[in-house]
Amino acid sequence: MLDQQTRDIIKATIPVLEQHGTTITKTFYHNMFSAHPELLNVFNKTNQTQGRQPMALASTVLAAAKHIDNLAAILPNVMQIGHKHRALEIKAEHYPIVGENLLKAIKEVLGEAATPAIIDAWAKAYGVIADVFIQVEQTMYDAAAWEGYKPFKVVAKRAVSDQITEFTVQADFPLPIVKAGQYITVRVQPEGETNTAWRHYSLCSTDTNNGLKFAVKREGVGEQKGLVSHYLHDHVQVGDKLDFTAPAGDFLLAQSDKPLVLISGGVGITPLLAMLEQQVNTNDQRKIHWIHSCRNRENHAFKAEVDTLINKARHAQNHVIYTAQQARIDANFIAKHIPQGADVYVCGTISFMESMIDLLKQQGWHENDIHFEPFGPKMSVVTV
Ligand SMILES: Cc1cc2nc3c(=O)[nH]c(=O)nc-3n(C[C@H](O)[C@H](O)[C@H](O)COP(=O)(O)OP(=O)(O)OC[C@H]3O[C@@H](n4cnc5c(N)ncnc54)[C@H](O)[C@@H]3O)c2cc1C
Ligand code: HEM
Repeated sequence: MLDQQTRDIIKATIPVLEQHGTTITKTFYHNMFSAHPELLNVFNKTNQTQGRQPMALASTVLAAAKHIDNLAAILPNVMQIGHKHRALEIKAEHYPIVGENLLKAIKEVLGEAATPAIIDAWAKAYGVIADVFIQVEQTMYDAAAWEGYKPFKVVAKRAVSDQITEFTVQADFPLPIVKAGQYITVRVQPEGETNTAWRHYSLCSTDTNNGLKFAVKREGVGEQKGLVSHYLHDHVQVGDKLDFTAPAGDFLLAQSDKPLVLISGGVGITPLLAMLEQQVNTNDQRKIHWIHSCRNRENHAFKAEVDTLINKARHAQNHVIYTAQQARIDANFIAKHIPQGADVYVCGTISFMESMIDLLKQQGWHENDIHFEPFGPKMSVVTV
């Protein structure tokens, strides 16, 4: 428990630290990677070189500090981040490295304004916040289906649209039961790269009889080629080995009698396909509204699989929007096709997610009633 004086200092200094947030974050990463280049094996290199997204870590520490009197209030966020950390093998011993470099960055950016009392207060606050993460993550390590990363063999590879390829990977140990909505995390080192790269991929089926199935969209072209997605498409073939950490994530299908609405954009279809499959195979009476948006027919992944499941369900509606030919999903569409009181699950890029959440909110939905998984840092969509 932090003393009152420490809490007062934290609260008084949050605004000024937020004001310098970008500079602190840049200084923090620069210092941390200079002192610990091995961490470049786990942080996304493209995010770092593009100067995007890395705000998430440092800004979440500041945001968490706002709740220092009641950290229980941010537990759902800690859980969500914790799943990502666990999937990336972030361990208790990494926390002091982040803490030390965060404090160093605060000192460097604030200069003399960062008095010893302020630095001391932030050291204590970081310690308390880090402990919450470490404890939550320990329970996740204890519950993980396997420890660390394990080698899998690619047993099938097939194009499911012009840009998306499905991979099936098999282990030499019995596969665990997986939940619809979970993702697995691959670790690769493409030729010519000094560091390993880790990426999360949602499972597109809970049927593990032939192995784990995930599907990858080829991201970007030319200079903007995504590192891992292109590597998987172009270099990984049937028979190759890939390393994965155990399934993770809290974007899970809750059983309920309420109508189920599944809204996906592009490759965001992957976890929702697993949810549709799970729902239809466990209770085909539930009302389902499947809504999928993609550019055109060539771009439309898993059409046959979805059509089969929709036909099997007793009360399912299938809405596909080809944005090259039709209007995008708008407020009228939401009002017409999404029944109030339904359970809504949304998945896609951060911009797709933001626009769906905005539209749903305009129709009176509360953010807490919308389950969503952006294919990027969740903190870009919600605030702590
Ligand atoms: C929980 C979760 C589940 C996910 N599930 C899936 C899934 O099922 N299927 C799937 O395909 N993806 C999924 N993703 C996304 C996936 O993890 C990767 O982020 C994605 O494959 C891109 O990785 P990459 O290495 O190819 O791109 P990166 O190299 O990480 O690049 C990221 C983006 O930046 C762009 N870029 C690269 N270089 C530049 C540049 N110089 N200038 C501008 N832009 C540039 C790339 O085109 C790409 O769009 C998921 C993500 C999360 C968080
Ligand atoms: C209290 C301390 C920490 C906080 C508040 C924090 C917060 C976050 C947040 C918000 C994200 C984005 C999650 C998402 O994708 O939705 C993230 C991702 C990540 N975190 Fe942490 N984190 C902390 C500690 C650490 C530590 C100690 C490490 C390891 C040194 C670490 C490594 C990572 C990595 C590698 C990612 C993925 C980002 C990328 O690849 O670019 N974090 N963290």
